[in-house]
Amino acid sequence: MPRALICGSMAYDTIMVFEDHFKNHILPNKVHMLNVSFLVPQMRREFGGCAGNIAYNLKLLGGDPVPMATVGQDFAPYREWFASQGIALAHVREVPDSFTAQAFITTDRDNNQITAFHPGAMGFSQQNKVGDVADVALGIVAPDGRDGMLQHARDFAARGIPFIFDPGQALPLFTGEEFRAFIEQADYVAANSYEASLLTERTGWSEIEIAAKVKAYVVTRGAEGSIIHAGGKAHVIPSARPSAVIDPTGCGDAYRAGLIHGILRGCDWATTGRIASLMGALKIAHPGTQNQRFTPGEFATEYRRQFGQALA
Ligand SMILES: Nc1ncnc2c1ncn2[C@@H]1O[C@H](COP(=O)(O)OP(=O)(O)OP(=O)(O)O)[C@@H](O)[C@H]1O
Ligand SMILES: [Mg+2]
Repeated sequence: MPRALICGSMAYDTIMVFEDHFKNHILPNKVHMLNVSFLVPQMRREFGGCAGNIAYNLKLLGGDPVPMATVGQDFAPYREWFASQGIALAHVREVPDSFTAQAFITTDRDNNQITAFHPGAMGFSQQNKVGDVADVALGIVAPDGRDGMLQHARDFAARGIPFIFDPGQALPLFTGEEFRAFIEQADYVAANSYEASLLTERTGWSEIEIAAKVKAYVVTRGAEGSIIHAGGKAHVIPSARPSAVIDPTGCGDAYRAGLIHGILRGCDWATTGRIASLMGALKIAHPGTQNQRFTPGEFATEYRRQFGQALA
């Protein structure tokens, strides 16, 4: 089975629910001396981070993901979870005296969110080297520490390993010149529509111009599906019908796992896009980013049901 090297973050997401409205506690005339405490009886901790999510989803599809990430000394529960899923941990490096990247998200009754994000060990991702992994058929540079993203992209390009550039929430970290270099090095670029418009703004390159520099430029559009610009054509990929819309977090990562799987299997873009699209729809029916579960056989059955054709 061809191996995919998944460079990006592995993180914990701690989600707390404040059963009231922030606006009852944050008074506009008092924001210059803010000192508030929210009681949050409900709390859960999820395994997350882009590399973790993409690797988890690719494994569900029957792929062979190798996540590459830097994590902290609190990583044990996550390590156990991935070991139980049979996902390779050889390139998940523990950085001494650091915490795993983590977000603390407090949500109120109006679905407002107050989030604190600690990057921790993620800021050392450049310590991991693409060259340390043998037999990589495809890579991805997903959101991670800035230096790591720059270095992993350069290393994939220098070794002639095709890779997907996925800037995601790391978009604010780079200049136009750096984005142009990433795109020149990459074989594929994936972004949601908001990120795609920022990429155009920063690089000064239109969607068509970016597409011309890679094998495929993939732009996802939430419930509206996605568009894969490849070979001078725009392949319109429909979204799949989710069984429920519970939590959109991580749909982008699930979609990318489908993309990797389709590319590695040599599928055409219409098929690769539909695999990715169905991965997003299966994710959205579950809270968190790694709680959906199915076998490759169940996936194939659902693919046929959704799209009316067998998964070749
Ligand atoms: N409501 C939905 N119904 C069906 N499919 C969806 C829905 N939301 C997302 N998807 C699928 O997941 C893909 C990726 O979603 P989206 O474009 O929202 O990514 P994103 O903004 O990067 O998400 P995130 O960063 O929160 O994971 C979409 O192209 C679509 O195929
Ligand atoms: Mg995203």
